Amino acid sequence: MGDDGERLLKHVLWSNGPQTENPTLVNKQCAGKDFVVLASRLFVVELFRRYDSFEIEVGKSPLGAAVTVTSLKRASF
Ligand code: HEM
Repeated sequence: MGDDGERLLKHVLWSNGPQTENPTLVNKQCAGKDFVVLASRLFVVELFRRYDSFEIEVGKSPLGAAVTVTSLKRASF
């Protein structure tokens, strides 16, 4: 890759550490870090395999953002 997205990975901090680093016995970084990214990628792949397009509404929830899917267009095979 080597593009801007990869360059910015060091600023992605959801796992209690930068996305470019790995969990160790002492750093308390999320041990499921790579699994979470894999599962998220599979979710996006499956979404676009099934549907050509979708629409969402983003609102607030006590945990952050609430995403509601308001329309799905089935993929044409
Ligand atoms: C989107 C989902 C997830 C998020 C946002 C997340 C985030 C985090 C964060 C922020 C920590 C550090 C907690 C702390 O010490 O204060 C953590 C720790 C941890 N996570 Fe995750 N996590 C996710 C999913 C998972 C999954 C699916 C697994 C297992 C398959 C996992 C396993 C662990 C373990 C074992 C620790 C403890 C690491 C340690 O204390 O050394 N996490 N996670």
